[in-house]
Amino acid sequence: NPSLHTPLPSINSFYYDGNRLGEQGSFSWWGGVQMGPPDPILGVSEAFKKDTNPKKMNLGVGAYRDDMGKPFVLSCVRKAEAIITTKQMDKEYLGIGGLGEFSKSCAQLALGADNEVMKSGRYITVQTISGTGSLRIGANFLARFHGGPRDVYLPKPSWGNHTPIFRDAGMELKAYKYYDPSTCGFDFKGALDDISKIPEHSVIMLHACAHNPTGVDPKPEQWKEISDIVKKRNLLVFFDMAYQGFASGDIDRDAWAVRYFIEQGHNILLSQSFAKNMGLYGERVGGFTVVCNDAEEAKRVESQLKILIRPIYSNPPMNGARIAATILNTPDLRSLWLEEVHGMANRIIKMREQLAAGLIKEGSSKNWQHVIDQIGMFCFTGLKPEQVERLTKEFSVYMTKDGRISMAGVTSGNVGYLAHGIHAVTK
Ligand code: LMR
Repeated sequence: NPSLHTPLPSINSFYYDGNRLGEQGSFSWWGGVQMGPPDPILGVSEAFKKDTNPKKMNLGVGAYRDDMGKPFVLSCVRKAEAIITTKQMDKEYLGIGGLGEFSKSCAQLALGADNEVMKSGRYITVQTISGTGSLRIGANFLARFHGGPRDVYLPKPSWGNHTPIFRDAGMELKAYKYYDPSTCGFDFKGALDDISKIPEHSVIMLHACAHNPTGVDPKPEQWKEISDIVKKRNLLVFFDMAYQGFASGDIDRDAWAVRYFIEQGHNILLSQSFAKNMGLYGERVGGFTVVCNDAEEAKRVESQLKILIRPIYSNPPMNGARIAATILNTPDLRSLWLEEVHGMANRIIKMREQLAAGLIKEGSSKNWQHVIDQIGMFCFTGLKPEQVERLTKEFSVYMTKDGRISMAGVTSGNVGYLAHGIHAVTK
């Protein structure tokens, strides 16, 4: 029955199509696949690995190092792992939405345990594959259910992965002013101006704290005005919180904007990651939360999130979620964790001061105050692409082309070398 089969084009129609010829001129299914560029952030690590200079520094990806430049596993994580091992738990599938006790404590951490949203149950949190997975589930959810415009407004600039995440989910990317290169600080006026012109019901992405890549955050008074204008424009707020605790060292202070917006009546979307604040990078653990009108709406949203997740990865991995839940729910481990987050944030702050002082010591006459004023894992140095290129070529200092350096890769041992290199390419 011919109607059962859509006839395949004759093999010759591929064979003679130049696009489909492989290197040797022979037929290949993937002959037309073009070489893609390396990832702007993770590609930096690949280049770094190939460099043989013993002084090389990887300041590309945002991954915390201790003062010896070594990856840091938090003691609270080691202790949680020991508890989990003793329990000899099974390896059954988690539910589609992940480990319940994790999701609850994840939401509690962001919103605060006595938040009215937690008490009334008008939210749903699903466990996700870290921050990226959370954002992607959020993007897919928007693409399927957001009745408003498909436009997502990102701060200019934003994390490099935001654009492909939303684009691949079928959303349209737009931008609002955020960073002012002339002050290396927040362009508050520009942001308000731009936000006030965003068409109603569009989605606005806000970085909850420790803005990536600029390290520039609005102050509480400025957040208040942003909340007002976002409300006036009737925008749907999507908070990305990948650095809770990393900005100030205080998890509550870093969650202030998220909690304030909820208090002001915004039913936000929220992505969380435990990569940085628990050092669980490769465990891929995070959460996606939708704040709803009431508990019944939250149930309906939950059912659809499960329908979205199931065909993508079925259900999330359990190990990271068990570790995070154990830390959050064991009082001793939780206080140890808070101390350790504080310790990481403080080491970064110290490195900022030493880098700025080192630049002055090198004889730089430029103003490096922003190195100290910016917050969180990254410093947006203001270095131009050609200066970045020289720093990499001549000093083996690896960083993203936009001039962002991960302060978490700077140590007392290499901060002097970094200052020397930055001064050499900026004088
Ligand atoms: C970064 O910006 O370096 C981090 O968020 C890691 C990543 O996945 O890009």
